[in-house]
Amino acid sequence: MSKPETPCQREVKPPGAGGQQHGEKRQVQAQAEKPKAPVISVEGKNIACTGQYPSILECLEGADVEVHYHCRDGFCGACRVILHRGQVIYPQGEPLAFVGEGEILTCCSLPVTDIQIELD
Ligand code: FES
Repeated sequence: MSKPETPCQREVKPPGAGGQQHGEKRQVQAQAEKPKAPVISVEGKNIACTGQYPSILECLEGADVEVHYHCRDGFCGACRVILHRGQVIYPQGEPLAFVGEGEILTCCSLPVTDIQIELD
């Protein structure tokens, strides 16, 4: 005679039975909701700026685009480029170097939309 099954011994299945399908559905939903990486258009190239890069400068370097720089920290202005289209943010706060109207510093900014820039 076997022992009666207690509530703790029962296999618990997630709601909707066949938990595997439910999990797969969630995974597909998460992929569909994942925002696409902003694209940087420069010198005829379109470069996806994925989260692995901490700045536009490093994203450009990752795509073998030659960019001027010096301090890499928002102080000198050497990485200044013209922003033709799109929006960027400065995650560490506004840089100390002068940034004119329609310009950005690539070393300390990230795109929040697709952008088009022009190098010097
Ligand atoms: S490299 Fe100096 S401000 Fe960007």
